Amino acid sequence: MSTTRPGLFVTFEGIDGSGKTTQLRLLAQRLGELGHEVVVSCEPGGTAIGKQIRKILLDANNQELAPTAELLLYFAARAQNVEELILPSLDAGKIVLVDRFTDSTLAYQAAGRGLGEEVVLQLDRIACRGLKPDVTFLIDIDVETSLARARARNEQTVGEEAGQTRMDEQTIEFHRRVAAAYERLAARDAERFRRIDGRTSVEEVAAQVWAAFSPLLEHVR
Ligand code: TYD
Repeated sequence: MSTTRPGLFVTFEGIDGSGKTTQLRLLAQRLGELGHEVVVSCEPGGTAIGKQIRKILLDANNQELAPTAELLLYFAARAQNVEELILPSLDAGKIVLVDRFTDSTLAYQAAGRGLGEEVVLQLDRIACRGLKPDVTFLIDIDVETSLARARARNEQTVGEEAGQTRMDEQTIEFHRRVAAAYERLAARDAERFRRIDGRTSVEEVAAQVWAAFSPLLEHVR
């Protein structure tokens, strides 16, 4: 837990379709109702520039996007988010909830794409300048359920995000590598990670998230 700056930096992680976004929104709503100042963001795409980068990353037409270019784009979006939104909000003492952060890059690019951790950690040092989440919720769900959910959602997507499925089109082995990497990350940093069983109902998962989160409120100044 950071004691050097005000605010609280919370990230949500999990494989596609784990339900993390729903849970993040529910937590934000509950905190807002309790009168806390909450800022919600996501990666890639938490800023206007990040949204433009997100389009490139998720466009199913961009099949030729090189793994290193993909990696740098995720970090470009993150650097902008850190600079423009996350650090200023934390400095103002707010609770910042971000849907995905560097753990996603460790899971998807370092492990999923096989780029290795070292390059990801190097870029993290440049883009995030030492900023680490105080707490990370890992919403646990099995790969088969997650992919079924993600596909069902993509079929329903219309408008801006329609056709933005490049990451969901990866093989099942890719998604298994991502899930295994999350397990390793959570085991390695048990103090920061809160593992939540994502296979139950939305309400039950939200109750688990709240039970793990509420003790942290005493750290918010
Ligand atoms: P997201 O919008 O969270 O989609 P979902 O709700 O389906 O999880 O993330 C978009 C995709 O980008 C997702 O497939 C995970 C991927 N991703 C990476 O590969 N690396 C990263 O660093 C980040 C932030 C996301």
